[in-house]
Amino acid sequence: MSPESISGLLLSLIIFIIIPPSTQSDPLKTLLKLKTTLSNSNIHTFTTWNHNNPICNFTGVTCNINNTITELNLSQQQLTGTVDFNSLCSIQSLKKLSLATNHLHGTITPNISHCTNLQHLDLADNSFSGQFPWKSVAKLINLTYLSLGDNPFDKTQFPLEIFNLQNLQTLYLTNCSISGMIPEKLGTLASLHRLELSDNSLVGELPIGLTKLTNLQVLELYDNRLTGVFPTGFGNLVNLSKLDVSNNTLEGDVNELKTLTRLESLQLFENKFSGAIPVEFGEFKFLREFSIYKNKFTGELPEKIGSWAEFEFIDVSENMLSGAIPPDMCKNGKMYDILMLQNNFSGSLPESYANCWSLERLRVSNNSLSGRIPDGIWSLPRLKLIDLAMNQFEGEVSTNIGEAKSLAQLFLFNNRFSGELPEEISEASSLVEIKLMYNQLSGGLPATIGELKKLNSLHLEGNFFSGEIPESLGSCVSLNDINLAGNFLSGKIPASLGSIRGLNSLNLSGNKLSGEIPASLSSLKLSFIDLSNNMLIGPVPESLLAEAYGGSFAGNPGLCADRSKNLGRCSPVSHRSGGLGVAKYCFIGGPLVLVLLLLIACFILKRSKVKKCNNVTDGDFSWDMKQFHVISFDEGEILQSLKPDNLIGKGGSGNVYKVELGCGKKLAVKHMWRSGIDVGERKNYSSSATMLPKQKSRLPEYDAEVVALSSIRHVNVVKLYCSITNEDANLLVYEYMSNGSLWDQLHTYQKIEMGWDVRYKIAIGAAKGLEYLHHGCERPVIHRDVKSSNILLDKEMKPKIADFGLAKIMQANRDANSSHVIVGTYGYIAPEYGYTFNVTEKSDIYSFGVVLMELMTGKKPVEPEFGENKDIVSWIHDEIRSKGNVVGLVDPSIPDEAKRDAAKVLTIAIRCTMRFPAQRPSMRIIVQMLEQIEPV
Ligand SMILES: *[C@@H]1O[C@H](CO)[C@@H](O)[C@H](O)[C@H]1NC(C)=O
Ligand SMILES: *[C@@H]1O[C@H](CO)[C@@H](O)[C@H](O)[C@H]1NC(C)=O
Ligand SMILES: *[C@@H]1O[C@H](CO)[C@@H](O)[C@H](O)[C@H]1NC(C)=O
Ligand SMILES: *[C@@H]1O[C@H](CO)[C@@H](O)[C@H](O)[C@H]1NC(C)=O
Ligand SMILES: *[C@@H]1O[C@H](CO)[C@@H](O)[C@H](O)[C@H]1NC(C)=O
Ligand SMILES: *[C@@H]1O[C@H](CO)[C@@H](O)[C@H](O)[C@H]1NC(C)=O
Repeated sequence: MSPESISGLLLSLIIFIIIPPSTQSDPLKTLLKLKTTLSNSNIHTFTTWNHNNPICNFTGVTCNINNTITELNLSQQQLTGTVDFNSLCSIQSLKKLSLATNHLHGTITPNISHCTNLQHLDLADNSFSGQFPWKSVAKLINLTYLSLGDNPFDKTQFPLEIFNLQNLQTLYLTNCSISGMIPEKLGTLASLHRLELSDNSLVGELPIGLTKLTNLQVLELYDNRLTGVFPTGFGNLVNLSKLDVSNNTLEGDVNELKTLTRLESLQLFENKFSGAIPVEFGEFKFLREFSIYKNKFTGELPEKIGSWAEFEFIDVSENMLSGAIPPDMCKNGKMYDILMLQNNFSGSLPESYANCWSLERLRVSNNSLSGRIPDGIWSLPRLKLIDLAMNQFEGEVSTNIGEAKSLAQLFLFNNRFSGELPEEISEASSLVEIKLMYNQLSGGLPATIGELKKLNSLHLEGNFFSGEIPESLGSCVSLNDINLAGNFLSGKIPASLGSIRGLNSLNLSGNKLSGEIPASLSSLKLSFIDLSNNMLIGPVPESLLAEAYGGSFAGNPGLCADRSKNLGRCSPVSHRSGGLGVAKYCFIGGPLVLVLLLLIACFILKRSKVKKCNNVTDGDFSWDMKQFHVISFDEGEILQSLKPDNLIGKGGSGNVYKVELGCGKKLAVKHMWRSGIDVGERKNYSSSATMLPKQKSRLPEYDAEVVALSSIRHVNVVKLYCSITNEDANLLVYEYMSNGSLWDQLHTYQKIEMGWDVRYKIAIGAAKGLEYLHHGCERPVIHRDVKSSNILLDKEMKPKIADFGLAKIMQANRDANSSHVIVGTYGYIAPEYGYTFNVTEKSDIYSFGVVLMELMTGKKPVEPEFGENKDIVSWIHDEIRSKGNVVGLVDPSIPDEAKRDAAKVLTIAIRCTMRFPAQRPSMRIIVQMLEQIEPV
């Protein structure tokens, strides 16, 4: 062989090696090119992707016996980058392509349709965007598995091209920006086993076509806006094992589901379903998860529900279910969550639950349960949360509780538990929250309580505990919140409490504590302290005075302080070092006074500027009318009607006049106070506008506030028609409400008999108005003065919230020494007003709770019959604590058949008026709770 021929052979060999036969070259090139457009942090994926390795050995590649690529699976490889589908689909042999759960982006191009043999396409859970090429994908008629969900594709209607893909068994389009209705034609995809369309913007009813998909095993439609009922024939889907339609607005009963005997997981929560739970559910042999919370289901739970398979989760909270708690839900040893709060369940906790070893959360609060707690429940080893609150349970807290090593939260409040708190509770070392308030517990507090190192919140108020507060309480280093109020505790306040660094709130009021307040408490950074109504003596440590509110130390005749309006002076000056006292005072007070002076100075400066400005631009008495709703009247008509004859109300913010226009339309006009001047009380009052008493000029914030308030529109909020202002006066023009205020209706001689329907309508309407103010506006509007006289009634007794936001207006409008800063009305003021001016929505909610109490009991917020220093809130809380009977508090004029419902509203009112803001529900929740009580 000549050298030439040898080299020729070598050359062709080299060429053969470098350029393999064409059928092999394309996939290799393609995959190596794909590799260059992707990067990944999972370093191992692509180490096999190189020239030295047969392509069929590449990670994620699968070949058939002829070494042809049939599958590419790069799912969950933490890939980023883009995919060139034109290139990738040159590997025509691909049957399966999965790129799911990565961070891929870019668009899916139409030439994905070149992957003609594709049966399985999974692109889900990436960042692919743009329009999905439905027309092209519709050509891949051999697709059985199509998964595109969880990508930010462009918004689209339900793609009709899908109906070409008649072989589909799995269709996953969750979170894919699909809007509109689900087409009736869906029924033609007869092979579907699994259909997931959750988390889109689908509306309308469930199509009847759906009932033809009898092979369906999984149907997920949660987080959409579907309406209507389960269509007739839905019960044909007998192969369903998983059905989730939660968080829609579906309604009607669920009787169609009673034939779905293979269900393992049924999620119906957050809808408007009603009616009874079909008794057939009790025979579902595979059921493991059952969640129907926040609906309007009534009746009883099937006795045998969850007793067959390994039942592990039930949440039926926030319905109107009654009857007994099913006894066998724990039978198969897997149950971890029993959530049944806020219903009407009665009877006792089944004895069998004592063996529920797997249970992690047991929540049955706010029902009508009674009886003793089966002993074993206290010691269940995995139990993290026991919530039995707001029932009528009785008996003792078992000594077994020491074995509850996982227990973090123990909520037993508002029950009738009695006996002593066992010493063993200190062995439940995971405890974070203990809430045992409002029971009949007695005896001493365990001396070993200091062993609870994780304890954050200790609530024992409203019991009969006696003896001394154990010194060891100070060893509970994580405590944030201690409330032992309203017991019979005696002896001294342990000095050790001063060493709990994170202690924020301390309430020991209403006990028999004696001795001096330990100086150690001075080192605490408390935001709340109440030591009132004890037998404490001696000086109140200086730093506590700064944190306290007026009543913190009241009712302790022996306490004193040298600089407190509320307490007596400690001792004649001669006994102390007078000089030092003054020095201290100056040191603390000095900066404060300085800040105040500065503030006042700024204010005066600002005001004079405004005045100047007004003088330049406006004439002396030019009126400026800002109109927000279309109405036909002029300011002259209104101004002329502001005379004493038309005065219909006086409030903290101004006088209210009824104005009848020529056209017969009635308006309410509020003449706002300025600097504490009461217009109506002035002599020489005249109907002429220009004679309105001279007031100080308004500030720009005023206009801003008024404009904001006027944009608020809701059927349960009084309409603000316009604001009329000149340099001297501010008038707000509102719609007129012919039935006056709720206060008038409830408490004055004019009162008309209110039926239950009317009372309920007022409760829910007012709640919705307030909900709108809190949640429906651009920024939350805190009312700050919710009370029955600010809930007005129109001629159909529809309630509307009035005077909203006025407090803010007043602030914007006031001058530095104005006395009219609204902080609410006596009897309605939330306790936190006492120690913070940081008012939140939760303060409104407290006041709303008081209104609900008025409405349900017919009593005023403050009445002599409640007893000394008691208002309606403490009266109701105390009555329930001592008698446990809510129905007995209901206004006798409410008909008997409605008393139970009224009692439920009262229960909501009790939650609204919880002492700590965080414990009060939001208006949104309150509306939902009230809606569940709707009279039939
Ligand atoms: C390909 O993978 C197989 C099985 O893992 C292995 O036996 C074989 O040696 C690999 N081939 C090469 C060239 O790495
Ligand atoms: C492999 O190739 C042989 C011969 O070309 C062919 O008969 C057979 O069907 C192929 N197998 C597959 C799985 O493609
Ligand atoms: C793809 O690979 C992942 C693991 O990386 C696996 O969980 C998944 O089942 C595979 N998909 C297919 C279709 O084989
Ligand atoms: C693949 O589709 C993209 C986007 O439509 C297009 O730009 C490109 O030219 C197509 N390539 C081929 C080879 O058809
Ligand atoms: C679909 O699959 C069938 C058989 O599995 C095959 O004959 C047909 O060519 C495939 N269709 C396409 C468009 O690839
Ligand atoms: C309910 O579904 C909507 C979409 O319709 C979604 O925005 C919302 O977050 C869901 N609510 C919950 C609690 O998941």
